[in-house]
Amino acid sequence: MRWQLMVKALSVSAFMGLLLLLVNQQWGSWISSMDPWPSSQKAPSEDPLVLSSRKFEWETQTPHPLELRYPYSYPFLINHPDKCGGLRDAPFLLILVMSKPQDVGIRQVIRQTWGNETLVPGVVIRCLFVLGLPPPLFAQKLQDLLAEEDKEHGDLLQVGFLDTYRNLTLKVLMGLEWMAQYCPTAQYVLKVDSDVFLNPTFLVQQILQPNRPLKLNFITHIFRNSVPLWMQGHKWYMPPELYPQNMYPEYCAGLGYVMSGSLALRILTEAQRVKVIHLEDVFVGLCLQQLKVKPTPSPPNTFLIFWRKYDHCTFHQLVLVHHFQHQELLRIWPDFLRATTSC
Ligand SMILES: *[C@@H]1O[C@H](CO)[C@@H](O)[C@H](O)[C@H]1NC(C)=O
Ligand SMILES: *[C@@H]1O[C@H](CO)[C@@H](O)[C@H](O)[C@H]1NC(C)=O
Repeated sequence: MRWQLMVKALSVSAFMGLLLLLVNQQWGSWISSMDPWPSSQKAPSEDPLVLSSRKFEWETQTPHPLELRYPYSYPFLINHPDKCGGLRDAPFLLILVMSKPQDVGIRQVIRQTWGNETLVPGVVIRCLFVLGLPPPLFAQKLQDLLAEEDKEHGDLLQVGFLDTYRNLTLKVLMGLEWMAQYCPTAQYVLKVDSDVFLNPTFLVQQILQPNRPLKLNFITHIFRNSVPLWMQGHKWYMPPELYPQNMYPEYCAGLGYVMSGSLALRILTEAQRVKVIHLEDVFVGLCLQQLKVKPTPSPPNTFLIFWRKYDHCTFHQLVLVHHFQHQELLRIWPDFLRATTSC
């Protein structure tokens, strides 16, 4: 009886091993078939010589597993070079939404709510979803779905690395590389997560103010005096080998931050030199520290890092609320759009 069980267990694990091997090989060949990156797609700010020597570094040493491969020529697999409508029609605000390949439904809700580009009258807004490669097992199927979704909406930006939480910094950086290459005159860039409530009208009219002079070196601010977490297994774990200091610099909470377009380009340039870590908001903070740029405090209670129960008047006076589920977003949106008369 026990012997039979053992044979069974052995054969099952052998089968699983074989399956994994197969999937891995498939995955490897699929990735490498996507790897070539036409030189015309290179961001203009990259010095090819520096880039290639850094690439070589990656092949000669074994980096810490949480250190990310960057700078590196990740290809744009789904791209919309004309999304910004050329240099003359530069958007006032470019929204880069961090999305996961499988989150088709969430993207649909965002398009119908705060991602609607025509929400703020008289202001050009462009909204793109930035995503990586789907998990290996269902890659081809999901990839077909993504192509279909993009054909309908034309707003996906897919970059050629595995889409994991640990790779989020790469997503942000590749979003900025896209901006540098195809939308360099965008006046402001908003990096935003997909589990938020966003009020673009308040952001544009009350904070950015299109009829006022452009704020150079502008970036919204929330966090200061925070410390690295050294508890292994925590979502925000930071190994001391990777970040030895015991304080983080000032940084902008990752749920969403707005930068002037010119600062976004300077951050990208700095990012070619700073060691890239997996906590993207801290990483952007490190770049800001190098650039000696201080984030601008946002008006109190306008960027909420915790969930808040929906209230018509309160939500009209703020920019962002974190941890907002898409079903809830869809449910409150009609009320949110209702004319505000008595606030
Ligand atoms: C975006 O808003 C406009 C009105 O401002 C509306 O006509 C359009 O249907 C909306 N788009 C989506 C995808 O909901
Ligand atoms: C990030 O993406 C690369 C390239 O696809 C992949 O090899 C790596 O495992 C990913 N890193 C993490 C920490 O998920």
